[in-house]
Amino acid sequence: MASWGPGSALRALPFLSHGEHIYMVDTDGNKYMDWTCQAVCTNLGYTVPPAVMNAVTKQMSELAMAYGGLGNTEIRVRLGALLNELLPDEITGFLFPSGGSEANEAAMRIARRYTGRPKIVNMYRSYHGGSPGALQATGDFRRGFTESTGELPGFVKTFNPFDTIGKFSFGSTDAEKAQNALAYLEDQIIMEGPHTIAAVMFESIVGSGGVYVAPPGYMEGVREICDRYGILFIADEVMVGFGRTGTFWGFQNYDVVPDIVTSAKGLSGAWLPLSMVAVRTEIKEFFEDTPLGWGATYHAHPVSMACAYESIKFMLEGDMLNHAKKVIEPVLKEGIDALCAKYECLGNGRQIGAFGCMDMLDKYGNPVQQLDGSNCTHPDAVLGYRQAMKANGLYGFLRPPFIHCAPPLVISPDELREGFSRQDKALAVYADIVSKA
Ligand SMILES: Cc1ncc(COP(=O)(O)O)c(C=O)c1O
Repeated sequence: MASWGPGSALRALPFLSHGEHIYMVDTDGNKYMDWTCQAVCTNLGYTVPPAVMNAVTKQMSELAMAYGGLGNTEIRVRLGALLNELLPDEITGFLFPSGGSEANEAAMRIARRYTGRPKIVNMYRSYHGGSPGALQATGDFRRGFTESTGELPGFVKTFNPFDTIGKFSFGSTDAEKAQNALAYLEDQIIMEGPHTIAAVMFESIVGSGGVYVAPPGYMEGVREICDRYGILFIADEVMVGFGRTGTFWGFQNYDVVPDIVTSAKGLSGAWLPLSMVAVRTEIKEFFEDTPLGWGATYHAHPVSMACAYESIKFMLEGDMLNHAKKVIEPVLKEGIDALCAKYECLGNGRQIGAFGCMDMLDKYGNPVQQLDGSNCTHPDAVLGYRQAMKANGLYGFLRPPFIHCAPPLVISPDELREGFSRQDKALAVYADIVSKA
């Protein structure tokens, strides 16, 4: 069975046999460049460093499993200490679930139990995970998959502070957008009743919803509103944590310290399943005498944690943050700008660090379809582009109108330029079909 799409879609997918560096190979011998780190997760590519291999093998042979609720382990302490150093001083408590959705479920449980309040505020353009609570927190069309079985109570949606592919805008300048979106959010909180709101949970930088950075001052203003009303600020860093945007954490692109940070994916290079929930000391201490009321068999899995510890060290020793910011970002910008200038049916190029996006447009300059796939004006062109990506050896997720660009952080400038020339060939197919429509 497939996941978000119908099962029959599986038959069209490549049958993968192995991977190396930034490439994946299928059983027919076709080699693909991974253009989006799969689901923006394989940040370090496919060549697993010997230190990671050795640490995983060592942990497997010494203690392959320790149920987190029944025993502590050296690697759990060591990984916690390392993350402690990488996060702001205020954040000192850690949980280690297995995936991003599970981390967000735990974060929301923590916020609700800590504040004694029921509601969580999220953005419309957002994704927080596939489990019931995380999907109800999600703002994009995927939320519909839980609503069809009955809405979970306790979630409030707010509009994103930046312009998206929709028609709504908070203003014509960044300052206006930040100010109006903050006024809207605060009014919304007052109307909901601040005493009913446990947390605001936002992606630091909206990822699968289109790579959007909040305008200057917005996140700082959200922090102030949270402080004014005793609301917790949860930063969902599942996609952008661990270097994607050229800073270690996405929230470091603003002047804020969240109360709770969730992350996953890049934490272990996605080589083994692991996520994290990191909380401020006050929250950690609150749960010293109060049960958290959350658990999972694979929480703090020692083998996944051994993988994560060495993956983070590999990232730091390889200076990946600098590479993302100083080496990848300019080439990404150059490539995105050149394609947007070349094709009328492509626009709104944007990027931060090693994370970029462009919008596929129709012949009138509008998004070729809505994010939920509805109102597609050129389905044949989208299909043609999808096939041309594959034929030109590009692999990755595609959610039109967005073309995400999220290569492994280990990519070289020449490889990235080669990726853009493959994109160019695939986009020529799209542009040709659109121009004839
Ligand atoms: C921002 C964000 N939060 C949460 C999730 C869910 O993570 P997972 O798929 O590991 O459950 C994702 C997955 O893409 C994500 O991008």
